[in-house]
Amino acid sequence: STPEDIQAYNERESLYIALNFAKDFFVKNLETEEGRAIGLSYFKERGFSQAIIEKFDLGYTLEGWDHLLKAAKAAGHSEEILLKAGLILQKEGDPSRLYDRFRGRVTFTIHNLGGKPIGFGARILTQDKKQPKYINSPETEVYHKSDVLYGMFQAKKSIREKDNCYLVEGYTDVVSLHLSGIENVVASSGTSLTENQIKLIKRFTDNVTVLFDGDAAGIKASLRGIDLLLEGGLNVKAVVFPDGDDPDSYSRKVGSEEFNTYLTSHAQDFIAFKIGLHAEEATNDPVKRADLIKQVVLSLSKIPDPIIRTVYVRQSANLLEIDEEIIQVELNKIILKVQ
Ligand code: CTP
Ligand code: MN
Ligand code: MN
Ligand code: MN
Ligand code: MN
Repeated sequence: STPEDIQAYNERESLYIALNFAKDFFVKNLETEEGRAIGLSYFKERGFSQAIIEKFDLGYTLEGWDHLLKAAKAAGHSEEILLKAGLILQKEGDPSRLYDRFRGRVTFTIHNLGGKPIGFGARILTQDKKQPKYINSPETEVYHKSDVLYGMFQAKKSIREKDNCYLVEGYTDVVSLHLSGIENVVASSGTSLTENQIKLIKRFTDNVTVLFDGDAAGIKASLRGIDLLLEGGLNVKAVVFPDGDDPDSYSRKVGSEEFNTYLTSHAQDFIAFKIGLHAEEATNDPVKRADLIKQVVLSLSKIPDPIIRTVYVRQSANLLEIDEEIIQVELNKIILKVQ
């Protein structure tokens, strides 16, 4: 390896050490008077136990501009490394003035597959509409957002054992599912799935169940996610939650036993899910019905395996109550165009 390789390696190591220091610092903040009164009580209100707080390295960032900066510098971390780790920011117009990125928020530690902290998501505690609900770590040398799924470190063993991965939108959904005894869960963290994230899931299982929020945005995101997962060669199911609920709020509403039952009894194949979304409006309206068929065919065209595709063509025909041949003809139009 060249001197440049060694230097890059050393820098990444320094980032890991700084990020681990920050994680410890945020975790310990929960034990301060301010942390207990604000951060810990927030988690307790959400039903997060001490054990789950420790399992996920949940923490708190104190009010004030430079608590982490001061402590980290005192411990020997350089400003350059803290900047490159995404932990501190330069003041606009006065880059020599540095301050903490995360302030007065509860923190969710983002781990890599080996369990090292690589970033943070930090949630606001008030309803202040002028500030974003979450502030997240930026892209860094060790945190490539498009390669990471939140919760994978805590989930990977269970995903393999259950041969299924639940995919949710948010940090809090991951934590809540663990509280309900479900450990095979990861979050897309509110962004569109990437090819690398799908490859990451495929290292552990071929089966994904999408549990997105029960609002318009969540349904839209799950439809997009389903097609991407199908293209990746995964088997996809989806669970729909009542409008306004996400997996976290719903599990707290009904309790963990009923939540577990709900997941197993409401997991639908992606085709049934898609058809169910439009079924009512499509029954009497021929234009909408044609549109629904096109939508289903579009999803079918994403399935790379021709045998699996054929099985789903049959199922779609049954659910849509039309001739298999019609679907196959429409499907061929797309597949032949692509090839
Ligand atoms: N998110 C984000 N920045 C925001 C809003 C959302 O990064 N301003 C990401 C977070 O990863 C969040 C996920 O998108 O967990 C889902 O967003 P949302 O459903 O709004 O948040 P919840 O996770 O449900 O959080 P809470 O229950 O605390 O409202
Ligand atoms: Mn990478
Ligand atoms: Mn949402
Ligand atoms: Mn949500
Ligand atoms: Mn929520």
